[in-house]
Amino acid sequence: MADRKNFGSKLGVVLASAGSAVGLGNIWRFPTEVGENGGAAFVLVYLLCVILVGVPIMLGEFVIGRHTHANTATAYQQLAPGKWWRVQGTMGVLVAFIISCYYMVVAGWTLYYAYASLTGALQYQGDDATYFSDFFDNFVTHPWLPVLFAMLFMVMVHGIIVKGVQDGIERFSKVMMPMLLLIIAVLTVCAFSLPGSSEGLRYLLHPDFSKLSAQTVLNAIGQAFYSLSLAMGCLCTYASYFRDDTNLVKTAFSVSLIDTMVALLAGFIIFPAVFSVPGLEPGDGPGLVFKSLPYIFSHAFASMPVMGYIFSLLFYLLLFLAALTSAISIHEPVTAYLHEVHQMSRRKAALWVTMVSVVLGVVCSLSCGLLGDMKILGMTLFDCFDALPAKILMPVGGIIISLFTGWYLDRKLVEDELTNYGKLRFPLFPVFIFLLRWVIPVAIALVMV
Ligand code: PHE
Repeated sequence: MADRKNFGSKLGVVLASAGSAVGLGNIWRFPTEVGENGGAAFVLVYLLCVILVGVPIMLGEFVIGRHTHANTATAYQQLAPGKWWRVQGTMGVLVAFIISCYYMVVAGWTLYYAYASLTGALQYQGDDATYFSDFFDNFVTHPWLPVLFAMLFMVMVHGIIVKGVQDGIERFSKVMMPMLLLIIAVLTVCAFSLPGSSEGLRYLLHPDFSKLSAQTVLNAIGQAFYSLSLAMGCLCTYASYFRDDTNLVKTAFSVSLIDTMVALLAGFIIFPAVFSVPGLEPGDGPGLVFKSLPYIFSHAFASMPVMGYIFSLLFYLLLFLAALTSAISIHEPVTAYLHEVHQMSRRKAALWVTMVSVVLGVVCSLSCGLLGDMKILGMTLFDCFDALPAKILMPVGGIIISLFTGWYLDRKLVEDELTNYGKLRFPLFPVFIFLLRWVIPVAIALVMV
C-alpha cells in the first residue's frame, strides 16, 4: 500500500499500543475477576500468564504485523497464501467487530457515570446500600439513555479514526495516555489514605492457594488475553504501522508492564475503597464498579464530601479515557481491512464500521433492558458478546497464533523481525520459540478442556 502511514515516534508506538491494552479490562474486569477468584492467588497466576503467555503472543502478533505492513487479513494471506492459517486473519477482524459492539455499550456507561459524577447525581449520603444498584438497573434498562451514551461514545471513536493513524490514533493516544496515568496516580494516593487501605492491600498481596483451581487459571488466561488486546488483530494491525527500526521486544515488554501496572493500581484503588465501607464484598461481580463503587465513594469520604465528588469524577473519567483508547484500537483493524481489502476510502470504511457497530451495539444495549428476553444459548446478547470472545475465540486465536509463529513461520524471519535484522540482541529467542511451540498451545488447550 503506497499511501500507508506509520506511527511517527517511539513514544507514539508505546502509548498507542498501551492505549489499546489499558482499558475496561484493567479497571472494570480485572478487579471483578480478582474479587470472584479469591484475591492474591489469582493475581499471582495472572502475572505468570502475562509473562509466559501474553508477552510471547504479543511478540508473535508484532512480528506478523510489522513484517507484512498490512491489515490482519492480508498479513496472514501474504505469509500463508492458500493455507488454512489465513482464516485466523479474517477471524481476528470478525472478533474485533464483535467486541466493538459490546465494548461501546459498557464504554457508554462509563461516559454516563462521568457525566453523572459531574452533575452530582452520584452523591448520596443515605444508608441504603442498594441505592446505586437500583440507580444502575434503572439506567441500563432505560429505553434510550444508555443507547444515547453508547452512540455518543462511538461518535468520538469515529472522529479519531477518520483522522488517520498519525493525526488520529497516535496524536490522541499521546494526550490521553499521560492524562490517564496521572489520574490513576492521584487516585492511588487518595485510596491509600482510606481506613480500609491496609486490608485492601492484604487482599491483593497475600495469596491463599487453597482458592486455586483450573477454572482460576482459565479465567487468568482469558483475562490476560483480554487485557493485553491479544488474538483479535488489534495489536497486529497497530504493529503494521510500526517503523522498521521499532524495537518489538522492548515495545512488547513496555506495553505489558504498563498494562499490568494499571491493572494492579486499579486494584489498589478499588479494594481499599471496598474494605472501607462495612457490608460490601470484593466478590460483588461485574456490578462492583458501577453499583458498589459510587456508594463507596460517597461513604468512604463521608467526612469530606468534596473528596468523594472529585474521586468519583476522576475515577469515571479514567474509565472513560481507558475505554476510548482501547475502542479506537478495536475499530482500526476492521477499518483497515475494509479500506485495504475492499478498496474503500478510509473515511467510507470507518463510516461502515461505525454504523454497523452502532446498530448491533444498540441491540446489545437494549438486551440489558427492553430486549432482555431475547436469548441465545440461554444468554442475553450482551452476555454472549462478552463471553464468546473472552472464553472461546481469544484463547483459540491464541493457540493458532502461537502455532503459526512457532511452527509455520520461518524461524529466521521471526528472529530477523525481533532483532531488526541483527541490529538488536534478543538472547531469550530460543525460550520464546519454545514457549510458542509447546508451552502455550498445550497449556491453553489443557485448561480449556
Ligand atoms: N485490552 C482492552 C481492555 O483491557 C480490550 C481490548 C480487547 C482491546 C481486545 C482491543 C482488543 O479493555
